[in-house]
Amino acid sequence: MAFARDQWYVAAYDSEVGRDLLARTVLGEPLVLYRTGAGEAVALADRCVHRRYPLSESRLDGDTIVCGYHGFTYDPTGACVFVPGQQRIPRTARVASYPVVEQDSFVWVWIGDRDRADPAAIPRAPWLADPRYAVVRDMAPLNARYELLVDNLMDLSHETYLHGGYIGTPEVASTPITTEVDEERGIVYVSRHMDDAECPPFYARSTGIQGRITRWQDIEYHPPCLYLLHSRIAPRGVLPPAEGADSEAFHAEIVYAITPSTAHTTYNFWAVARDFAIDDESVGEYLYNSNRTVVTQDVTALDILERVIAAEPADRQELSINIDTGGLAARRLLARMVGSGTVGVPR
Ligand code: FES
Ligand SMILES: [Fe+2]
Repeated sequence: MAFARDQWYVAAYDSEVGRDLLARTVLGEPLVLYRTGAGEAVALADRCVHRRYPLSESRLDGDTIVCGYHGFTYDPTGACVFVPGQQRIPRTARVASYPVVEQDSFVWVWIGDRDRADPAAIPRAPWLADPRYAVVRDMAPLNARYELLVDNLMDLSHETYLHGGYIGTPEVASTPITTEVDEERGIVYVSRHMDDAECPPFYARSTGIQGRITRWQDIEYHPPCLYLLHSRIAPRGVLPPAEGADSEAFHAEIVYAITPSTAHTTYNFWAVARDFAIDDESVGEYLYNSNRTVVTQDVTALDILERVIAAEPADRQELSINIDTGGLAARRLLARMVGSGTVGVPR
């Protein structure tokens, strides 16, 4: 499948981009990321125009990158400002620079036609940079195409089987979902409201609730890159009040940024923001370890699936059922985005 190029993608967490050179490949394009002395994040093509040496294997000199092979030197706009052995700098000596926006603790990049890059179009995940929430997060790369991760996250019934003992309980698989699509804004909503559910260890240990719960999962997928799972946990029977704060419930905002790296590899940025026990580091540590285990279970399964699919003919058959309505809607919106943007052939 081709990539939707005229879209924003998360290339890194803001804390990953600093005065060391960071290599990331987004939509098959090798990038080097760094921060200028003034703190501005920069993304350039990671290949020197001279003999293609990766700039990420080079060094910073002030705000410029000095190629580690023969010294071609690039400024933050990608223009070459020095070549060895001659005064004249060839007019074509420049590497591509990519629009960058820092928002909600993410570094977003735009790979496609830069005239179409509108920062206002970047979807939000405000909890990740809000002091009223405590956040644990990491990134787990996949050796699998990104569509498999989208499918995985849009259908949480797999929690019961793949993540039993962590976040899965029987009710996740047995409770029907509702799916809605905002065609205009390009958002898929999938909701599963469990009124009387077992409390999985992930929430029992972090919230301290004993006994059964009301568990709501409200997914908001902003294709291609941002996936939000609003998770509401409360003692059984406790519903949000008609007015005012939902203070008897516990809220976790689970955020994934799904960034295609190559046609068969994906960056899987994950974060769990919570509005409870925000000063309790042991809760943070527990949620981090627990979610990392859950993500690893997904990564292992999706890497297996990638190998299976890659070995099969493209016209292989699948069988979809009710639980797949969210995933199918997501696929449809993604296909529309690929069709309308500049289509790049993945490498
Ligand atoms: S490859 Fe970069 S200067 Fe020669
Ligand atoms: Fe999962």
